[in-house]
Amino acid sequence: MNSNTVKEEINKRRTFAIISHPDAGKTTLTEKFLLYGGAINMAGSVKGKATARHAVSDWMEIEKQRGISVTSSVLQFNYDDCCINILDTPGHQDFSEDTYRTLMAADSAVMVIDASKGVEAQTRKLFKVCTMRHIPIFTFINKMDRDAMDTFDLLDDIENNLGIATCPINWPIGSGKNFKGIYDRHEDHIVTFADTLKGTKEGTENHIKMDDMDQIHEFIGEDAYEKLQGEIELLDGAGAEFDLDEVRKGQLTPVFFGSALQNFGVEIFLHNFLKMATPPTGRNSGNEVIDPLEHDFTAFVFKIQANMNKAHRDRVAFMRICSGRYDASQEVQHVQSGKTMRLSQPQQLMADERKILSEAYAGDIMGVFDPGIFSIGDTVCMPKDTVKYEGIPTFAPEHFARVRQVDTMKRKQFVKGITQIAQEGAIQIFQEYNMGLEEIIVGVVGVLQFDVLKFRLESEYGVDIRLEPLPYEHIRWVENEDIDMTTLVGTSDMKKIKDMNDRPLLLFVNEWSVGMTIDRNKGLVLSEFKKN
Ligand code: G4P
Repeated sequence: MNSNTVKEEINKRRTFAIISHPDAGKTTLTEKFLLYGGAINMAGSVKGKATARHAVSDWMEIEKQRGISVTSSVLQFNYDDCCINILDTPGHQDFSEDTYRTLMAADSAVMVIDASKGVEAQTRKLFKVCTMRHIPIFTFINKMDRDAMDTFDLLDDIENNLGIATCPINWPIGSGKNFKGIYDRHEDHIVTFADTLKGTKEGTENHIKMDDMDQIHEFIGEDAYEKLQGEIELLDGAGAEFDLDEVRKGQLTPVFFGSALQNFGVEIFLHNFLKMATPPTGRNSGNEVIDPLEHDFTAFVFKIQANMNKAHRDRVAFMRICSGRYDASQEVQHVQSGKTMRLSQPQQLMADERKILSEAYAGDIMGVFDPGIFSIGDTVCMPKDTVKYEGIPTFAPEHFARVRQVDTMKRKQFVKGITQIAQEGAIQIFQEYNMGLEEIIVGVVGVLQFDVLKFRLESEYGVDIRLEPLPYEHIRWVENEDIDMTTLVGTSDMKKIKDMNDRPLLLFVNEWSVGMTIDRNKGLVLSEFKKN
């Protein structure tokens, strides 16, 4: 294929994840994006609640039992000459380490915030992972059709809570019953809100120029206009200037306002986002940055989904293409094993269908049948290429339990099962610092993973376990190479453990104990992520 065509295709790609706290409106906003992309005809098809959620994926029995999707998928659609890949980050009860890993595959993030609540816990966690990667973050403040916090307070909340500068691209006029629309700072006009756009993309947005006082009085009213003028003056005087460079470095977040449910402000957001967000950016292989446009096909595995089909015990490895074009007719190299092979059944996993791919480009995500050779973080490239991408870090679990085996005769199956499941990255396993596998502590990011573990050990390995919850909520890897764990003094609630690679860790019940332990041990370095 002509290399210019490949470059054109790659430059069209925008691959992003949406981060938010449950109920902020991520699903509703995604629906509206799809509506603009023509990927669905009527909003509501992404999550017609229980039924559509089943359609998204019914891979695991447990999903069917609970009616939720444990796995994440990708949605691809075209809009404004761009090919958009939205990575789904599971958010409710199915929040897990995979949610974090998915962020490793995104080039930018859209942060959805509920205007009445400001920054919430889960947003904060996901944001931390985004800043670790310095990816651009775009903010959509949602639910302006409901009573909202003061706009300046919302911006302060983002700045103080997340430590990122904000630059409003538009500004809301009122909220709730008094929501009149938004002022577009760049265009210097007002876009009026009408409560009639729900579910359609043809909405009749009215644009009013700032010198058209008759229209302003009619649609906005004098009081709201005066308030707006005061706010804009304050903003122009004190707010951060827009700087695309800073946006792209993840130091400044452009802020937009709207209502996903009423489909207001969504297209303006999408349009600006696509202009400001970058096409696929380079990734590090050792000291080299691999250019997505110039380099041949490379990809890395960011997620492994096991047992999508129980009859075959199959696994699917999800890969993010980092450079070049993938051609299904060619062989590729799995760097970690050194094997050359043809990827098996490469597919794009859409919300409700799986499409076999014959080609794909940097920025795209594909799922590949995994005969058991891929691990999270692995690199795939052309034969003879020497690229090896940095591994995906291990993220701190937040829930811990001691695992008790009910039938101790099945020790071998138990150890095999739990180690395999840990290798796939669904759970993390730890041992008491001075013991072996006889005492296993399991750590998970989302509590549902406990159920997944119990269910899988039973159904795949015939092993029954009991999980005894432990009170710890904070885990830290000890970074000091020369540490003597026996002399380390912590708080009374602290526990010393090690991971499967014998790396020392500490468990704490609360954040205070973490700080106290650092204070008590001079030079002690603790970290929340562990680079692999
Ligand atoms: P999530 O994926 O982030 O968890 O949120 P989701 O889109 O499911 O939205 C959570 C709830 O908030 C839904 O209401 C949804 O309709 C509502 N919502 C989303 N965007 C807006 C908005 O801009 N304005 C208002 N007023 N509400 C919004 P629900 O009652 O829980 O579900 P449903 O029965 O409406 O689907």
